[in-house]
Amino acid sequence: MNPNDHSRADRYPLAITGAGALGLHFAARLAEVMPVALIARDEARAARLRAGVTVGERSFEADAFAADAPPAADWVIVLVKAGDTAAAAAIAARMPPRGVLSLQNGLTADVLRANCAAPLVDQGITTEGAYRDGERVHPSGAGETLLPPGFEPVAEMLVRAGFRARVEDDIAAARLAKLLVNLAINPLAALHRVNNGALLAPPLRAELDRLVHEAWPVLRAEGLAVDEPAAIARVHAVAQATAANRASMLQDVLAGRRTEIDAITGALLRMAARHGIAVPTHAALYRAVSALEPAAAR
Ligand SMILES: NC(=O)c1ccc[n+]([C@@H]2O[C@H](COP(=O)([O-])OP(=O)(O)OC[C@H]3O[C@@H](n4cnc5c(N)ncnc54)[C@H](OP(=O)(O)O)[C@@H]3O)[C@@H](O)[C@H]2O)c1
Repeated sequence: MNPNDHSRADRYPLAITGAGALGLHFAARLAEVMPVALIARDEARAARLRAGVTVGERSFEADAFAADAPPAADWVIVLVKAGDTAAAAAIAARMPPRGVLSLQNGLTADVLRANCAAPLVDQGITTEGAYRDGERVHPSGAGETLLPPGFEPVAEMLVRAGFRARVEDDIAAARLAKLLVNLAINPLAALHRVNNGALLAPPLRAELDRLVHEAWPVLRAEGLAVDEPAAIARVHAVAQATAANRASMLQDVLAGRRTEIDAITGALLRMAARHGIAVPTHAALYRAVSALEPAAAR
């Protein structure tokens, strides 16, 4: 293949499933240095992506494919919302890749593995940020991407494209640390329809701290080396640093979409049940946020 012709490779080194905010953010940067296939929900969306979308300040003409006709690819990054993970795993299975990497929020690796038998299926984390505004995607802050061992080739691709990325040996703890922040901030902000900063002021601060108080023993039982003061400090620091932001779960509620409550709070409830630890405030929050989802989206 001509190295300057990134279109329609026979076998792509990398594919990204989920042409949303984060998928387009990653794909646009990666496509500057290598061929990247972008898997969209259907052919109409793929055609629009091939024609070009604006990501940041640039127009990006993606090598886009419909979900029912994915190309072959060595590695697949999954960036659909958690509720669409099973469908994304089935798409990945058809490529068929060496490895499938989720960079989603919540815990999704079990669903991926149940629906895709690639040699390597695992979940990393990213603090890259992006949001959609109609057809435009705005990168909203550079972060860091941590990948599980075995995904060194993907980490190299990300670094080549200018992302801060590395393999993290204790990826399970990194995932739990991110889950701690997400399960405290996201559902509470969504339920009360407030920006993250409002969670640090009365009356919501007590509720935020209550969520952390219940969650940290579960996360510690799962292997996260944390105590209550450290857990509270971490959650407060993120709420402070993102004070003006609308949590993604709040954005989903306001847009009438399904939320990622099951992959976030639901994951905690399942872990708590395994360890016999009571998390009543999370259970109530799970029910309350689930009730906000449109019935058709559940
Ligand atoms: N955005 C961020 O800043 C950020 C940061 C860290 C982590 N994350 C996590 O990254 C994941 C993706 O977030 P996002 O903000 O990029 O979400 P998003 O903008 O909603 O993008 C998800 C995309 O997946 C597509 N999709 C859904 N089902 C599909 C299927 N079966 N086949 C192909 N495409 C499918 C959706 O298509 P439609 O548009 O047609 O529904 C949508 O374009 C989430 O788990 C999120 O929590 C996001």
